[in-house]
Amino acid sequence: MTTAYEACSAKLLQTPKKWLITGVAGFIGSNLLETLLKLNQTVVGLDDFSTSDGRNLEEVKSLVTEQQWRNFSFFEGNICDLQTCRRVCEGIDHVLHQAALGSVPRSIEDPVLTNASNISGFLNMLVASKESGVTRFVYAASSSTYGDHPGLPKIEDEIGKPLSPYAVTKYVNELYADVFARTYGFRATGLRYFNVFGPRQDPEGAYAAVIPKWFSGMLHGEAIYINGDGETSRDFCYVDNAVQANILAACSENEAAIGQVYNVAFAEQTTLNELFNLIRGQLAEKVPDLTVVPPVHRDFRAGDVRYSLADIGKAHRLLGYEPAYSLKAGLEKAAQWYIEHLR
Ligand SMILES: NC(=O)c1ccc[n+]([C@@H]2O[C@H](COP(=O)([O-])OP(=O)(O)OC[C@H]3O[C@@H](n4cnc5c(N)ncnc54)[C@H](O)[C@@H]3O)[C@@H](O)[C@H]2O)c1
Repeated sequence: MTTAYEACSAKLLQTPKKWLITGVAGFIGSNLLETLLKLNQTVVGLDDFSTSDGRNLEEVKSLVTEQQWRNFSFFEGNICDLQTCRRVCEGIDHVLHQAALGSVPRSIEDPVLTNASNISGFLNMLVASKESGVTRFVYAASSSTYGDHPGLPKIEDEIGKPLSPYAVTKYVNELYADVFARTYGFRATGLRYFNVFGPRQDPEGAYAAVIPKWFSGMLHGEAIYINGDGETSRDFCYVDNAVQANILAACSENEAAIGQVYNVAFAEQTTLNELFNLIRGQLAEKVPDLTVVPPVHRDFRAGDVRYSLADIGKAHRLLGYEPAYSLKAGLEKAAQWYIEHLR
């Protein structure tokens, strides 16, 4: 049977749209770009290279045809500048807004900087998209919005208090989206990503996410640190699942689905201790001469949620979201990519 995603992709091939991806040079943005170009869509990309460089775009260029690459135009610019947002929104059908400063620790160290991109920049993008008559605005929300709510699995309507400045910014995005729907009738759809991972996620720097950091650490024979006892859990989501959710949200013709907030995850809970073993196992299979030393446990990290697991029923019911990659299947693809790029 054809899935909603297959049907949606087939329709896009028949009737291409013009998309804007903000944060296009980043991890999720560049994966969205690759998929959309392969579906022969026209894509405008915006990025200020604040947490990325041109490498992800170069890689996408190498993975699509020359004609598909010609369908892409890139603008270097900052979403904190409203005029820039207005310029890139002109003539756009669908916006996939990914640009933001990620990382809980970064937001604790510099909340002002995070606030500027994640709240002022977000508001600029909403204003510019509304003014230019964009039909669908889909934005990167975050599981951090669940904050201190103890319930598991996480259900969209039941959130707690934010535990970090980053979580505040992502919650404010949802509040602004809601107010834009009420006051201007402009409906934006939020995707609460749960620990997305996969090819092109940056392993470098103080704010790298756990999966790329551990792949890199193990491949380079470095010590691997686990914050706390390792029983902290996450719902790790392979990037192709997140891409699927974006495309379904942008193309949905179900009125009830537009303007909602959705969990985007695989709906499986994995502890950091289990994750360590899974990554080590993947690498051991593919790089037999690799020696990985036991992990070093250190203090819990401020602002971190203890347990995380998503209920993805809403995205399934309203969007037809069916994540195709489990953590294990995603790690296999990611392992291959990190081995090719870091060895
Ligand atoms: N990766 C995850 O697990 C995860 C989880 C929850 C939410 N998110 C959200 O998803 C989105 C994409 O995350 P990612 O993992 O791809 O991060 P990323 O850092 O790889 O990509 C973000 C991109 O946005 C750009 N950017 C940042 N501020 C900008 C600005 N002011 N103007 C223009 N460009 C700017 C960066 O240069 C970068 O290329 C972000 O909004 C993030 O908060 C990610």
